[in-house]
Amino acid sequence: MIKNFIPEGVADLNCEEYEKMNLLEESVVKVFKNAGYRQIMTPTFEYYDLFAEDNITAGTEDMYKIMDSGGKLMVLKPDATIPIARMVATHYKASEGELKLMYVTNVFRSADFRAGEKREFKQAGIEYFGANTPAADANVIKTAVSALTASGFSDLKTELGDADYFNGLMEYLAADERFSSREIQTHIRELVEAKNIPALYRFADEYEIQEKAREVLLAMPMLYGDIKEVTEKARALSLNDTMKKAVENITAISSEIKDINISADMGLVNRLDYYSGMIFKIYLKNSGVIAGSGGRYDKLMKKFGKNIPAAGFGLNMDILYEAFQKKDANNSDVLSIALGKGRLADTTVKQLEAIGITFPDYSKESRKLIFEDSTGKIRIVFVKAVDVGIYVEKGACDVGVIGKDTLLESGSDVFELLDLEYGKCIFAVASRKGFKYNPKKKLRVATKYPRVAKDYFAGMGRSIEIIKINGSVELAPLIGLSDVIVDIVETGKTLKENGLEVVEEITDISARFIVNRASLKTKETAVANIMKALLERN
Ligand code: PRP
Repeated sequence: MIKNFIPEGVADLNCEEYEKMNLLEESVVKVFKNAGYRQIMTPTFEYYDLFAEDNITAGTEDMYKIMDSGGKLMVLKPDATIPIARMVATHYKASEGELKLMYVTNVFRSADFRAGEKREFKQAGIEYFGANTPAADANVIKTAVSALTASGFSDLKTELGDADYFNGLMEYLAADERFSSREIQTHIRELVEAKNIPALYRFADEYEIQEKAREVLLAMPMLYGDIKEVTEKARALSLNDTMKKAVENITAISSEIKDINISADMGLVNRLDYYSGMIFKIYLKNSGVIAGSGGRYDKLMKKFGKNIPAAGFGLNMDILYEAFQKKDANNSDVLSIALGKGRLADTTVKQLEAIGITFPDYSKESRKLIFEDSTGKIRIVFVKAVDVGIYVEKGACDVGVIGKDTLLESGSDVFELLDLEYGKCIFAVASRKGFKYNPKKKLRVATKYPRVAKDYFAGMGRSIEIIKINGSVELAPLIGLSDVIVDIVETGKTLKENGLEVVEEITDISARFIVNRASLKTKETAVANIMKALLERN
């Protein structure tokens, strides 16, 4: 019999599902067309080189690559915009003036299946070429918002930033040679994009960044909210004309948008460096997801030999479809906090109680997994410690407390906003006393943290074999399963009692307060209040 399985990360749509998806698509397309955008289609296959050259797109390792019969490397389209840019630079080479294009297409990227991500998903969007004015930017944002409201999503939150605010800071920093390389700027961009505040503090300290730039760098990720207040603060912090112009641009665009409730986020930066000018995100408040995002990418077309400005956005139709099914199912008022059962949970509950958030039914002995606070506005959810990241990333919980060790290992895509400075320990390589590393031999490493171990040894250029085990790691070198272990060390008691010792320290660990990317904005006040209280407590 034929095996009737389908690969992970893809889905069938049955008749009812297809009809619903189609309705959603039709309403989005109708809005795009009414706004003057004409539909195009680019192929499913593209040359790998199109995406690999000149850092044009993130994650070439995430693309699906195929060799054609002539030995040319091709990919399944991992992104909608780059092929359209290529198409405009060739098919519309001679055309002048504005060009308004729209698309609905499937895109393909390897995904984290454990997190329920898809490797094939549908994206719908617009690209507006040949205009670079606040009115053109406003047109793109308004079209995105209209497409969502026409499809039945009413409770939206739209946020506007400008990539040049960050770019201006990089210009300023680049006067110091240490910050002029693309690598270091990309590193800073990633920290700001992930709002990884503890890491930004460490970075600023380590590099002894001068005071003014330090102030902006550390303020930027949390500089969001009311457009007037935020732009005022951002203007005061500006270090050069590029940053000032970015602030003025946000003001100019927002004044073109009358009937949409829009706020600002100066920490919005894109993972790709060809973005310049406005950048925006739209959140669905009820479902707590990012429905779509877009921005201006004037620098991209130059790479294709047709130097015209461009802006656009894309909606992830699969996320919208899911959100549509769950619409109004979420209680959007309650803030859910994910806590990992075990060491950190008790300390965290005590910390929360110390700031006045109490859980009358909670006791350490209870087997219940969810507890409400006395106001009914906050609940703690006990999950397995290794799952805290996934609960928060997927929006099942809004915020969470997680050890940095587990966060590093899970690679969860969340904002890491606070170092709570408890649950302190270190990540270390340990082995039997007197162990000597033999560079000629492959090192056998037993660990609960394969990702951390792999990254650490790869960074040192050492060849290793990872043996993933789930606990009592100290046993492995004792009975010959491995040469060393990579594990957390808190008091050092477990190592000592088993005749092991630390060979190398990898990094310090402590508890981190993490936040879902959408919840930070859709439950802004509740998240800010808890953060503020925990900070003051620290
Ligand atoms: C952790 C870690 C070490 C131990 C370190 O294990 O994996 O074994 O704690 O703590 P110490 O330095 O204070 O002795 P955990 O207690 O989580 O149990 P496990 O080995 O079953 O995962």
